[in-house]
Amino acid sequence: MARYFEYIDQHKERFEQELFDLLRIPSISAVSSNKGDVRQAAEFIREQFDQMGLNGVQLFETPGNPVVYGEYMDAGRDKPTVLVYGHYDVQPPDPLELWETEPFEPTVRNGDVYARGASDDKGQAYTHVKAIESWLKTEGRLPVNVKVIIEGEEEIGSPNLVPFLQEHKEMLACDMVLISDTSMFDKDVPSITYGLRGLAYMQVYVQGPNRDLHSGTYGGAVQNPLNALCEIIAGLKDKDGVVQIPGFYDDVIALSDEERAESARLPFDEQAFKDSLAIGQVFGEKGYTTLERKSSRPTLDVNGIWGGYQGEGAKTVLPAKAGAKISMRLVPDQDPKKIAALFTRYVHQIAPAGVTVVVEEHHGGHAAMTDLNFYGLEAASQAFEDVYGRKPLFTREGGSIPIVADFKKVLGADSILMGFGLNSDAIHSPNEKFSLEDFHRGIKTSARFFEVLAGVKA
Ligand code: BES
Ligand code: ZN
Repeated sequence: MARYFEYIDQHKERFEQELFDLLRIPSISAVSSNKGDVRQAAEFIREQFDQMGLNGVQLFETPGNPVVYGEYMDAGRDKPTVLVYGHYDVQPPDPLELWETEPFEPTVRNGDVYARGASDDKGQAYTHVKAIESWLKTEGRLPVNVKVIIEGEEEIGSPNLVPFLQEHKEMLACDMVLISDTSMFDKDVPSITYGLRGLAYMQVYVQGPNRDLHSGTYGGAVQNPLNALCEIIAGLKDKDGVVQIPGFYDDVIALSDEERAESARLPFDEQAFKDSLAIGQVFGEKGYTTLERKSSRPTLDVNGIWGGYQGEGAKTVLPAKAGAKISMRLVPDQDPKKIAALFTRYVHQIAPAGVTVVVEEHHGGHAAMTDLNFYGLEAASQAFEDVYGRKPLFTREGGSIPIVADFKKVLGADSILMGFGLNSDAIHSPNEKFSLEDFHRGIKTSARFFEVLAGVKA
């Protein structure tokens, strides 16, 4: 057995304890009062990089949260250079009351660690950190050149990372990017994700009268902003789940027959999917399968909506304003800016008279695809097979990691999405978890990947 494998087995407990230490830091990028925690998480990783013997270790300041950097460039110029990317920031833990145990007090139940960020992305990003440590501590070297960046703004759309890439283009030059921030197809069914969706995120404000009104005195004579908002939202999609914004589908690359056939061959259990969510029926764009709907077709969803009285009992009131947050998941070649503009125009067009509507654009990002013939995927596939005992599936996923498209655009590098999470990890939800077995296997897969890659010809 390779020495790095032995090391990974021997240090299993310590790796877990260290991950738990990282999980205790509430590095929520969306909440400004957690700024100090976010920095503390960055410092924690920087220390790790220092201790394990990476070179050039540095916290790069940005106008937002720092990027942690470290490298090992002594494998030789004939060896490929892998840029490992991950994020140490997490989503807010709300709603807090639905957590069985505290979100920032990692707790192990049935072999899973429960904490915000356990799967997305501290646990997954940490697999590579520990894989690199295992190589350096046993062999004193890595078989390929490695650069690592762990950022702190992924969950808010990586606003400062694109400028960072542009500014440090030389430093980050690489042959490929390695990322673990996605999911396996199922438990014990490893997979490599070759497609991610893009995103356009919008906020709609509807303003009616200058104050809340008595719904008896004024109701029926004044446009109600909440009713108006509902009318707008109802106009965005039809009953078949088709987005009604003119031009929305114009740039969508249709799924090829071949890709549809491949997707249909994946071992997807629709009944289990429904059971796991306690829904009697699936819903989505007519003419597409559930897998296609959730990964390779564009869609639109309300993420939040507000207005009017939400307290106990009934209050007869006509609210002065209402609002909603709406996301659109995009596929190649939809452009988030163009989609945002089309959305804005259409919302104004269908808004009923009597209210003022303001549409704002939040962060977004392009969809990303990795060419299935990319040689790095072969090494990743081999590494999975060596550790999991079976070849990974190649899948598309519906989530977004906007920086993946920028890695391609700015650095010219394809990304290998080597996910160790599960769809049931409840990322962004209460009771997020990560399997410690997959944490362990993830470390081994990453360590093995570096070795296999060193022997593969580009
Ligand atoms: N790890 C996720 C992305 C992901 C989720 C990929 C599920 C594949 C399957 C990532 O941290 C994330 O949540 N991204 C955001 C991006 C947004 C904030 C720009 C997302 O997808 O909502
Ligand atoms: Zn993530």
